[in-house]
Amino acid sequence: MTISVQGVVSRGKGEPVQVTEVLVPEPGPGEALVRVQACGVCHTDLHYKMGGIGDDYPYLLGHEAAGVVEAVGDNVTDVAPGDFVILNWRAVCGQCRACKRGRPWYCFATHNATQKMTLADGTPLSPALGIGAFAEKTLVAAGQCTKVNPGIAPATAGLLGCGVMAGLGAAINTGGVTRGDTVAVIGCGGVGDAAILGARLAGAKTIIAVDIDDRKLEWAKEFGATHTINSRSSDAVEGIRGLTGGFGADVVVEAIGRPETYKQAFFARDLAGVVVLVGVPTPDMQLDLPLLEVFGRGGALKSSWYGDCLPSRDFPMLVDLHLDGRLPLEKFVSETVGLGDVEAAFTKMEHGDVLRSVVVF
Ligand code: APR
Ligand code: ZN
Ligand code: ZN
Repeated sequence: MTISVQGVVSRGKGEPVQVTEVLVPEPGPGEALVRVQACGVCHTDLHYKMGGIGDDYPYLLGHEAAGVVEAVGDNVTDVAPGDFVILNWRAVCGQCRACKRGRPWYCFATHNATQKMTLADGTPLSPALGIGAFAEKTLVAAGQCTKVNPGIAPATAGLLGCGVMAGLGAAINTGGVTRGDTVAVIGCGGVGDAAILGARLAGAKTIIAVDIDDRKLEWAKEFGATHTINSRSSDAVEGIRGLTGGFGADVVVEAIGRPETYKQAFFARDLAGVVVLVGVPTPDMQLDLPLLEVFGRGGALKSSWYGDCLPSRDFPMLVDLHLDGRLPLEKFVSETVGLGDVEAAFTKMEHGDVLRSVVVF
């Protein structure tokens, strides 16, 4: 039986989002119906609204979510009604060339629900990142539900489903930060701060936070930054080199997605160091670097998609570390809001007033 819920829908490029009726089908084979308890407001939701991702309106926004499985369709064995889960947008297929080579965190054919959620008039909705969780209930592929310890607060848990995982994974999985490393993180929003937290967890010795906003640098210290640089008032590359014996950092994470800050990351790393790009650029951006330096500096220039995470491996482990008092993920939740407050949360995000606003149900 189809159920009716309230959800946040973006109907056209740049238009304010609306809370409206959404019809959710009963789960079919391989699908799960999830009662959403919390969902963070992420930049990607704003990109959908602004037309930066595609033109498949109407979109059902929201994708950083946690909740409880309410029902499952046929052939679902990994999760059952009553399970507390974080939703992921990497339900690996097991069949593509990446999965077959034992690298499922690159899976090129991830699963989403087969059936469509719709508006009341039957218009099919495009769920953000195949999730659509600014809704009281959502329909996903069962593999998008990752069961974790229910002791964690839903508002905190949901953030692992996207931005916080992207930042933690950029440092730990993609950058391979390890004990004694020097690390610099350029851009200290939620993603950059998560990279700082990841670097601390991995045992980095020096963690340098770079931002143009002093408020963000103060917050970065709470996540484990040992030094800060305001790159509006001083040179980021000089500063990072100065704090690393004149050499540059072993790992530099760029968490903005701009050519000028990527260049800073490139020149601020030590020989044989690693640059990790986790910030998402726009299609108009170009990068110009001296090729001799690309060769001569060695090391690796990597991109981090979703923190190279494998949800089934990473989410339960990170939740357990949090519950053990070793990963203060709750600090990313700047405020909790209602379903009707997503538009206002976008404005706060654009003004840099919050790390994350989280819709709670
Ligand atoms: N130099 C240094 N810091 C900058 C610069 C700059 N030129 N421009 C912006 N910043 C800082 C901002 O002050 C802010 O603190 O970068 C930070 C960006 O943070 P948010 O806007 O909160 O973004 P966040 O959610 O962390 O995401 C960062 O990662 O996943 C991607 O799409 C996401 O591209 C985005 C990036
Ligand atoms: Zn695959
Ligand atoms: Zn996101």
